Amino acid sequence: MDFQLTEEQQMIQAAAKDFAEQQIAPVAADFDASGEFPLSNIQAMGELGLMGIEVPENYGGAGLDTIGYVLAMIEVSAADAAHGTIMSVNNSLFCNGILKYGTEEQKQKYVRAIASGAEIGAYALSEPQSGSDASTMKSRAVLSDDGTHYTINARKSWITSGPYARYLVLFASTNPEAGAKGITAFLIDTEKEGFSRGKTEPKLGIRASATCEVELSDYQCAIEDRLGEEGEGFKIAMSVLDAGRIGIAAQAVGIAQAAYQASLTYARDRKAFGQEIGSFQMIQQKLADMKTKLEAARLLTLRAAWAKMESEKTGARITLDGSMAKLFASEAAMWIAHQAVQLHGGMGYSKEMPIERYFRDAKITEIYEGTSEIQRMVIARTETGLR
Ligand code: CAA
Repeated sequence: MDFQLTEEQQMIQAAAKDFAEQQIAPVAADFDASGEFPLSNIQAMGELGLMGIEVPENYGGAGLDTIGYVLAMIEVSAADAAHGTIMSVNNSLFCNGILKYGTEEQKQKYVRAIASGAEIGAYALSEPQSGSDASTMKSRAVLSDDGTHYTINARKSWITSGPYARYLVLFASTNPEAGAKGITAFLIDTEKEGFSRGKTEPKLGIRASATCEVELSDYQCAIEDRLGEEGEGFKIAMSVLDAGRIGIAAQAVGIAQAAYQASLTYARDRKAFGQEIGSFQMIQQKLADMKTKLEAARLLTLRAAWAKMESEKTGARITLDGSMAKLFASEAAMWIAHQAVQLHGGMGYSKEMPIERYFRDAKITEIYEGTSEIQRMVIARTETGLR
């Protein structure tokens, strides 16, 4: 076992850290307050290769590995989790699925646009009445008699980057009687007729990452824009989420890292009862537990990243690795952010410091891309083989 990072991994980590500290951290509070989408930063991140870290260079990406992706996600999310969300959807939920299941033409057209930062991507699985039970979706796609295109009618909710996305990976049923086995994946161009956007969600945290409903009404999707085979969509959705959950675990580690670092600084600087609060045992206990959970989350996330890299050679599923990393890291981030607020006292509750933002942002990591309850179910099902 070698914990040493490669030269390339160190380079992407340093580039992401530099950009995050110079360009993201100084504006994070303003974007959080206004809820404005950080479009110019996202485009600049694309130019740096951060929107397609694992995408081969011939499709416009940085051509690096999953560990490099995790390291960069941690640095960006430590500066601002909302930037991290947009980055993770472009990398994991959009590019990753097309790289794995797409045709050469789809990779050239869709992956290149997103990985280079020229356009923004999104992933449309959830519906108003179907969240955790994703296979019960009501969206429908019907193949034309001549087999050239599908007519899609769909209503999708909680679409991260939806208000700004040019392209979507969208799931709809082509055979409702077949349940999960009747779902098919499609690549949708939001500039085409039949596509519209619904209400934008007012959110507790990651406020600069825009989220909305989308609707497809008799949208005509050419057969060339079907991703994978008919009926293969649920498997595609789930295997994309296996990788996506590693990105969310990395985002959680980033938030936890920022909350811990701020707490450490505050414990050294802040004085009460004539001494630094970091010399009190109750504060020391918090710091010790925060640091230990943070590093455990980081290791589980990096191990899942390594498992994904191995799976590219073996074809093995990484469901267990992704779910464990996301479950542990998201709950660690929530707990660490909670402790950070408490340790900072009134300043932890004030918008003058970023601590309350870390607390609000951490919560979503326990919810999206599968709640903690779903991760526990996936882990237990995988381990026991029972349902
Ligand atoms: N990889 C490949 N195949 C998989 C798979 C995976 N990870 N998980 C399941 N499958 C396959 C199964 O093997 C099965 O196929 P077979 O019958 O041939 O074996 C088929 O898919 C159906 O699987 P299940 O019977 O396990 O399906 P289920 O209906 O019981 O659902 C679930 C399983 C784990 C609950 C799943 O629905 C799930 O993960 N739900 C959570 C959905 C989710 O994470 N939503 C988040 C939306 S994305 C998001 O948050 C948006 C954002 O913008 C950030």
